[in-house]
Amino acid sequence: MTAVSRLFLRAAVAALASAMISCASAPVETGGEGPVAHPEKWPEVAPPFAHDPALEARIDALMARMSLEDKVGQIIQADSSAIEPEDLKTYKLGSVLSGGNSAPKGQAYAAAEEWLELLDAYYEAAMEGPEGAVRIPPLFGIDAVHGHNNVVGGTIFPHNIGLGATRNPALARRIAEATAVELSVTGHDWTFAPTVAVPRDDRWGRAYEGFSEAPEVVASYSGGIVEGLQGAPGTDEFFSPGRVVSSAKHFLGDGGTKDGVDQGDNLSTEEELRDIHAAGYPAAVEAGVQTVMASFNSWHGKKMHGRRGLLTGVLKERWGFDGFIVGDWNGHGQVEGCTNESCPASFNAGLDMFMAPDSWRGLYHNTLEQVRSGEIPMERLDDAVRRILRVKLRAGLFDKPKPSARPLAGRTELLGAPAHRALARQAVRESLVLLKNNGGVLPLQPGRRVLVAGDGADSISMQSGGWTLTWQGTGVDNDAFPNGETIFAGIRAAVESAGGAVEHAPDGEYTQRPDVAIFVIGEEPYAEGYGDRPTVDFDRRDPALLAAMRRLRADGVPVVTVFLSGRPLWANPELNASDAFVAAWLPGTEGGGIADVLFRDEAGGVRYDFTGKLPFSWPAEPTQTPLNVGDEPYEPLFAFGYGLTYADRTELPELPEESVAAQAGASTFFARGAPATGMRLVIGEAGGKEAEAAAPSAQTPGGGLSLAAFDRAAQEDARAARWNGEGAAYVMIATDAPLDLANAVEAGLALTIDARVSRAPAAPARLAMACGEGCEGGVDVADTLAAMEGAGWGRLSVSLQCFVADGLDPARVTAPFRLETAGALGFDFSAIALAPAEAGTMTCR
Ligand code: BGC
Ligand code: BGC
Repeated sequence: MTAVSRLFLRAAVAALASAMISCASAPVETGGEGPVAHPEKWPEVAPPFAHDPALEARIDALMARMSLEDKVGQIIQADSSAIEPEDLKTYKLGSVLSGGNSAPKGQAYAAAEEWLELLDAYYEAAMEGPEGAVRIPPLFGIDAVHGHNNVVGGTIFPHNIGLGATRNPALARRIAEATAVELSVTGHDWTFAPTVAVPRDDRWGRAYEGFSEAPEVVASYSGGIVEGLQGAPGTDEFFSPGRVVSSAKHFLGDGGTKDGVDQGDNLSTEEELRDIHAAGYPAAVEAGVQTVMASFNSWHGKKMHGRRGLLTGVLKERWGFDGFIVGDWNGHGQVEGCTNESCPASFNAGLDMFMAPDSWRGLYHNTLEQVRSGEIPMERLDDAVRRILRVKLRAGLFDKPKPSARPLAGRTELLGAPAHRALARQAVRESLVLLKNNGGVLPLQPGRRVLVAGDGADSISMQSGGWTLTWQGTGVDNDAFPNGETIFAGIRAAVESAGGAVEHAPDGEYTQRPDVAIFVIGEEPYAEGYGDRPTVDFDRRDPALLAAMRRLRADGVPVVTVFLSGRPLWANPELNASDAFVAAWLPGTEGGGIADVLFRDEAGGVRYDFTGKLPFSWPAEPTQTPLNVGDEPYEPLFAFGYGLTYADRTELPELPEESVAAQAGASTFFARGAPATGMRLVIGEAGGKEAEAAAPSAQTPGGGLSLAAFDRAAQEDARAARWNGEGAAYVMIATDAPLDLANAVEAGLALTIDARVSRAPAAPARLAMACGEGCEGGVDVADTLAAMEGAGWGRLSVSLQCFVADGLDPARVTAPFRLETAGALGFDFSAIALAPAEAGTMTCR
């Protein structure tokens, strides 16, 4: 074993060990409502606004004319998919947002003209009223999180992870300015950006929305972006035409949830919350950010939407934030004792505007009642309304005509304007991190024969990731991006203009032997919890691509890999199969920025060198999570801040390709809607016949159990299992040949099921593994399933040693998963696998 591989093994074992230890460790502070915040321990912050008597007097005058109904309307925001313009004649709501899939006329995305038409209709209805009625323009919000990403033709900039790699906050500020201009073209006045999360566990599906795992890097970006969007306070640019309201999100601790579970529980101490997760907020507040979005996550079991000590105590009182706090998508409904349509607890804790996409109507009536009954104090309501009006006045909303009549509105030539695209292309170049360049294969000569391969080479959607035209960023063809360029198109332009030739063969099967091959591979788009993963393994969908890379290389053709991903991933086999390897993150529409750096100029000189540095630590093992700079021990494959330039002569040695977990037998039994090769999905009733459930829907003969395929992240990638309570029935994965899981038991692995419980079990529910006729071991998971009811997607994880303790012979497993109950149960599952034990793993020692 080489010194390097010994090092990796040590890191991996340490990672595995720490994953085990974490299942025994209890939260730092517990009891009742968990820890409470101590605002006096938080830093002081200096917001840029002095008390402004003239502004407050305007607010007083407005509020004096507002009815209780007008006030309650202001604190509610609906989503454009669930409210008609007509409704705003009756319900004077404070804001309308458009979520990631909510474009005009029921479409997923739309062109600028359609947006203007829709926003005008809302505006006119909201401003209508009898003589003398108070008229308050609504704020139109949208997620412009990497450019104005919901409108056709908008410039799509690299996601924040790529901006973090540039270490160029001044560039990010200019990107924010360009984004604000593009937002003004469609009449929007508010973006839910920047995300200042500090993602600490890269299994989190939103890791790419964060700039870095390092709090100081996040802090270096937040203020400038806020100023880029809103204009700098105290200057003429503050909310001048072409500026929009910004929202720092998600307050607080979204990047620190246990196991990187989206909307999960953050178990940090108050000091960690302050020093790590809150790092981006002081600069945002000092830059004058007008809104802050509350987070879906909990802190020690209590949802942030209900945490008064942080929302009011820290953000408003300690820091002097005088804008308003907006909720996240029905986030209030997750607070204990609340529903989407009723949540005085969140409002009383300091939330000022509910994001109530489809629940706005019920919420409006209930909130009105709660103010009347005194459950919500009048002073609290007045404070929230005052904050909202303050933001609207500062943003100049009262002086603006309808959206389509505002400066820049309808100037569609500004969407994807050449200057914006040039800025994006610069950001792409600066975001690339060179991880391997053996033999100095890069930079390439453009005048040669270049093969371009990989599923990411000619796909703007794959190079852009989630939050691109659609919420998940999936299902969008290149045609939907009139102003975009794929990575392949950029390479072709560079090569052909220098007299070279390009062949595009997605599978790597060329017709004419190339001088060099460029593979563009990586993750498919995802957003939010759909991107949560059990490990940071690069889950290659197409192993044939890896084989093609190896074949070319064995043939003496140098292989360059451009890796598209929303986070660092363990991809040692691909690193080994490449001479050069570039982490390109999610660069967006300006794919040409890649060729700018990969190719020499025609005189043979370097056009652009690599300047990007890793904003996140790169794992040496798929199970090495969390992994962050400053950890003790810290043994990443590539450290935080790593990134080669053309002057470096570093040779990366061959890396181990078998992960420790893989050596121990970790494997997947069910994924992407299907059982693994050599396995079958089976259903049956006790004492009855069993049958393979190969079709999307299936039922046991007596009807006791039904299975139906549905979409979780992709088409029919999950199954809903429903027991009706009429007799014992089971769902199972059966193997064609027995599996030997002895090593996996030895390594402490667990049976892990990504699942969602829609109906808690009415009777004991046995999770078992079988080892042939009359041989099995299992545990009752009824309590665990009951605790998962209604909590969305989560993970059911049971240590293998539990099955062995109950009689399983691990050396000849014939069914690695079997769930049986006699009572009613609603259980959805999308993945079944062996994985390292994690914090919530059920153990039986
Ligand atoms: C996300 C937010 C986003 C909001 C509106 C939520 O699901 O967590 O980041 O701003 O939806 O689309
Ligand atoms: C919306 C997103 C939102 C998500 C929350 C989607 O339907 O389009 O904007 O963040 O729901 O669940």
